[in-house]
Amino acid sequence: MNIVDLEHEFMKRIKADQKIEPKDWMPEKYRQTLIRQIAQHAHSEIVGMLPEANYISRAPTLRRKAALLAKIQDEAGHGLYLYCAAETLGVDRDTLLDELHSGKAKYSSIFNYPTLTWADMGAIGWLVDGAAILNQVPLCKCSFGPYARAMVRVCKEESFHQRQGYEILLTLCNGSEEQKKMAQDAVNRWWWPSMMMFGPSDENSKHSAYSMETGIKKFSNDELRQRFVDQTKPQADILGVTLPDKDLKFDESSGHWKYGEIDWEEFNNVIQGNGPCNKIRLKHRREAWEKGAWVRDAASAYAAKKALKNSESKQVA
Ligand code: 3HC
Repeated sequence: MNIVDLEHEFMKRIKADQKIEPKDWMPEKYRQTLIRQIAQHAHSEIVGMLPEANYISRAPTLRRKAALLAKIQDEAGHGLYLYCAAETLGVDRDTLLDELHSGKAKYSSIFNYPTLTWADMGAIGWLVDGAAILNQVPLCKCSFGPYARAMVRVCKEESFHQRQGYEILLTLCNGSEEQKKMAQDAVNRWWWPSMMMFGPSDENSKHSAYSMETGIKKFSNDELRQRFVDQTKPQADILGVTLPDKDLKFDESSGHWKYGEIDWEEFNNVIQGNGPCNKIRLKHRREAWEKGAWVRDAASAYAAKKALKNSESKQVA
């Protein structure tokens, strides 16, 4: 088959909602789009561990500490699933990590903001993981098999992440005046960066058209952002916190909450590496990578020894 027929067959499979598997023929643009998105997603998961790690030793109770530890451990696992999914496309994990550590690769802008109080753990769970769930559930039906399957497990764990965050804020909002203020302050700082997690507006999204045409994306950035606002506003009302958007207004005709203008200059600034914590996040990632070298070496030495033993026992048999 020539390239035209191959692409035609590929698009027929996409339209029939069939999964594309690693060994299937795929357009190079499709492969590169997936490598780009899955790698950034994986990087986001492991960099996303850092802001919350700040509070493991500061958790107010053993129960909160255990829940936070479990969440952070889950994020590491999400990163591993996603690096494995990316590797099925023929990329080398060490190359992806080199690109992260060198600052070449992107990860979600949201993780470049500081965590200033315990309430931030609640706001991150409720808002950041809440936004991530809205973005990741459709990815369970993504056209690329390994990515879709990785997302099924990820989404189950994200629900716990969001729930524990919401419970932290509910506890604070039912607490003292100072605790209520702490919760509101965290929501003020995390609301707009969470809105930016869905990416640029649809008209400025350079990848959405192709990603939607090939079944990688099932909904546009703005569609998912709107769902996030519609879902979050009633939850904010239950908490008794105010979302920091003076233009937030329910529109009876559409049945949606209309929201104010996002500061795209801030968004672009952060993704270009000039956010409040970009530099410290990469510094900590590089340090973790260097400190973990002995673990990687030990695992490789063990694997090599085991392989040698297996081959020797095969020769004897
Ligand atoms: N942070 C950093 N970069 C972003 C971004 C963000 N919030 N939103 C968009 N971008 C980048 C894109 O990577 C792209 O840059 P590139 O060409 O250099 O890769 C550019 O901005 C244009 O954006 P597009 O909308 O055209 O790009 P996409 O089609 O890739 O859409 C996306 C962006 C919606 C984030 C999409 O990549 C996606 O769905 N990714 C998978 C899910 C994901 O990464 N979620 C967020 C982090 S994971 C998480 O939150 C973990 C949880 O456990 C807390």
